[in-house]
Order: sequence, then C-alpha cells, then structure tokens
Amino acid sequence: MTIPPPQSGSIALVTGASSGIGEQFARQLSARGHRVALVARRRERLAELAEELGGQERAVPLAVDLSLSEGRDWLASRLDQLGAQVEVLVNCAGYGIYRGFAEAGREQELRQVRLLVETMVDLMARYLPAMVERGRGAIVNVSSTAGFQALPFNAGYAAAKSYVLVLSEAVHEEVADRGVTVTAVMPGPVPSGFQKASDAEYFTARLPKFTFVSPERVARDALQAADSGRISVIPGGPQVKLAFAPNRRLPRAVVLPVTKRLMAR
Ligand SMILES: NC(=O)c1ccc[n+]([C@@H]2O[C@H](COP(=O)([O-])OP(=O)(O)OC[C@H]3O[C@@H](n4cnc5c(N)ncnc54)[C@H](OP(=O)(O)O)[C@@H]3O)[C@@H](O)[C@H]2O)c1
Repeated sequence: MTIPPPQSGSIALVTGASSGIGEQFARQLSARGHRVALVARRRERLAELAEELGGQERAVPLAVDLSLSEGRDWLASRLDQLGAQVEVLVNCAGYGIYRGFAEAGREQELRQVRLLVETMVDLMARYLPAMVERGRGAIVNVSSTAGFQALPFNAGYAAAKSYVLVLSEAVHEEVADRGVTVTAVMPGPVPSGFQKASDAEYFTARLPKFTFVSPERVARDALQAADSGRISVIPGGPQVKLAFAPNRRLPRAVVLPVTKRLMAR
C-alpha cells in the first residue's frame, strides 16, 4: 500500500502546517504533486507558504484554532466548499505542557487534550469513512516518543501522545486490508517551534544531541513509512530507536523515577 497518488479533486490536509514538522509535511506532499490544505492559527505564515507552493490551486491556507470544535466545523465546511476529497490526512498540530498537573491549570490541560486528542479523533472520524469507502487513503498521526511511557511534569502530553499511538495502531489494523493506511509517527527531539511554544527548552537541553532529528527528516521518514503501509515509525534512524523504544517495555518502577528526574525543572 502507498499514499494514494494525487488525482483531480483530491487534497492532502496537513494540520500544524505553519511551522516545524507540519510545514515539512506540507512542502514534501506538495513536491509529490498533492494539492495541500494548510491548517494552523497563524494566517500570515500559512498565506506565505501557500503562495510559495504555487497559490490557491496548489495550496489552500485555512487559518483556524483546531482546539475549538466550531473551528473544526468551519474547516470541514471550507473543504466541502472547495469540493476537495481528503485522501491524505496528516494530524500534526500540537504543543505540550511541561509543568506539574497540579500547577498547570484545568483550562490548560483541557486545551491540550482538545488539540492533541479530540482534534485527531474528530478529523479521523470525518475523513476515514470516505477513504475506506473509496478504498484509498492515508492518515499520518504524529505521536511522540513521549507516548512510550508516563512522564511526570509532562503528564497530559505523554498520555495524549500514547492515546494517538494506540488509537492509530488499532485503526490501522482495522482498515489496512481496505486500501487505507494509518501510520503513527513517534519523533524524539526535533528542533522546531515546539520548544518555545511548549516552554520545553530546559528539557530538550538535557537530551543527548545524537537523538535530535530535523523536521525535514521526520516528515520524509514518516511519508516513506506511510508509503510502505507501515503501522508506525520512529524517524531518524537506529540511534533514535535505540535511545527511546525500550521505554515502551521497561517496568514503570524503573522508568518513573528516571523520567521524574529528567522532566523536573
Ligand atoms: N519538536 C519536538 O521535539 C517533537 C517531538 C515529538 C513530537 N512532536 C510533535 O510534532 C508535532 C509538530 O510539532 P513541531 O515540532 O513541528 O512544533 P511547532 O514547530 O511548534 O509546530 C506546531 C504546529 O501546531 C500548530 N498549532 C498549535 N496549536 C494549534 C491550534 N490550537 N490550532 C491549530 N494549529 C495549532 C502551530 O501553528 P500555529 O501556532 O500557527 O497555530 C504549528 O503549526 C506536534 O504534535 C508535537 O507534539 C514534536
């Protein structure tokens, strides 16, 4: 199975397209000939990127706050108006709260869940059924190595990324023999707008440099994985896998004290 090649009326919907990994997904899908829908909140960034990628016929900027359900309704209605069939969906928009749960605040925690979990579920539920009906489609869900284990002081983010991973794996299994692929992507540290937006510079600085992977490489490895119908991928090569994948299997009594020390400010 591969990512369905672009055809008349099809579009690749990329969330988080104004920066970092999502921007790279948009650029690389556009270079493959897909018309792309660029979604994030920063209107000017999206407009500039759309212009660079060839204007409205090639790239449609759609500025919206995805954590609001009315924002997602608006996005779906704009795509309907365009008459575009979403054949590729990349769920990439995100940030993380790097504070204790007791300090972060109810509204902040809820906003994080709405963006990382509710938005992904909503967009998948809107576009997966038609993909299955047509027997063609690809969904790429950006999780994180944070989803491999519980992370004190980053609890909601790790839990949300774990949700993304586990949901993607199960749905992949449901639809893989029906012409549609769902691929979970688990990047380790990636230099992007994320560290500033998430106030996570202190934590990123503690991670070994050999685990850092560029946004370009993350998008490239993820698209290659989706092209091969893979269920999941840790982008960046064996050293990243070696550094993070074991955490998925280690007993929590071993992992929790280490992650607590690593994540504390
Ligand atoms: N960087 C890392 O180390 C790392 C590691 C593992 C996983 N990830 C995941 O990779 C994904 C992309 O992150 P990145 O590294 O590319 O960070 P980034 O450069 O900060 O990009 C995040 C994107 O999400 C968008 N976004 C944030 N809140 C939004 C909202 N409410 N509505 C719509 N769009 C919103 C941002 O656009 P606007 O601000 O314009 O809305 C931006 O386009 C995230 O899901 C992140 O959790 C990142």
